[in-house]
Amino acid sequence: MTTGSYDFIRRQLRQTVGISIELDKLHTIENRLEPLAQQSGLKSVPELIDLYRTTRDHVLWRQIVEAMTTNETYFFRDRKPFSLFREQMLPRLLEARSKQRHLRIWCAACSTGQEPYSLAMILDEEARHLKGWKVEIVATDLSEGVLATARDGLYSQFEVQRGLPVTLLLRYFTREGERWRINEALRSRVQFRPQNLLADFRELGTFDVIFCRNVLIYFDAATKSEVLGKLCRSVRPDGYLVLGAAETVLGLCPDWVPHPGHPAMVVPAGSPELSGPSKIRLVSGL
Ligand SMILES: C[S@@+](CC[C@H](N)C(=O)[O-])C[C@H]1O[C@@H](n2cnc3c(N)ncnc32)[C@H](O)[C@@H]1O
Repeated sequence: MTTGSYDFIRRQLRQTVGISIELDKLHTIENRLEPLAQQSGLKSVPELIDLYRTTRDHVLWRQIVEAMTTNETYFFRDRKPFSLFREQMLPRLLEARSKQRHLRIWCAACSTGQEPYSLAMILDEEARHLKGWKVEIVATDLSEGVLATARDGLYSQFEVQRGLPVTLLLRYFTREGERWRINEALRSRVQFRPQNLLADFRELGTFDVIFCRNVLIYFDAATKSEVLGKLCRSVRPDGYLVLGAAETVLGLCPDWVPHPGHPAMVVPAGSPELSGPSKIRLVSGL
């Protein structure tokens, strides 16, 4: 790959979708884009990049971005965030919102849907506490491809074997040949829509819980800070922002400190939350 096309694609990816490719990861671009180059009848990855550079073709750009993103996900990934959601966040929010009876949850960067559907299953299991409540689950991703799969709700045997207890598989899925389709009742609880986290997302409104897991790891420090700042502004003051196991705000947002009682939770420094049981804001490193 020529340095020029390499620099160009790195810059484009960082500026438009936040994906940061280190200088020593040149092979990642080649490995990921090689199949697309072949599929497009081109001899090499630099040719593919040059084609985009000259045409600025929107469809080609989407294909490049889809090839460069990592969509790894599975049901109840890392377990702990989901048990905290059920056992701590939900009971506290049910108390705090008992007058409004309205909860808003956002899965930002939801990939093929396993994360929002895991939350939807928990909410369904807790339905007895939610009678008369309006619960919204908004699930977004940059990639239209993964959103189409998520909306379809059809998963392979391998996918349902990763993290999904068999009782939940039998309760919420129906077998279709070799695959499993999520039940319509659960599927219809999740609103899927495209959203680039680098773009302005204020029109989505504010949320009681935001799961934004395993996407910030692909961003550089400046982009992480910027996206985290926007996410913090989209969480209601006593809501929760849940990050991935390898993601933290520590060092990036100096106003946040670990909660003494919950090492994986972070709260605004000097906040009254530190002395009381409620209003813990951020869950990370789980
Ligand atoms: C590794 S998956 C994480 C899925 C899920 N949150 C989880 O933890 O299992 C990362 C997802 O982030 C999405 N993504 C990457 N850059 C993004 C951006 N700038 N805005 C929104 N989504 C993005 C990718 O399309 C991909 O589906």
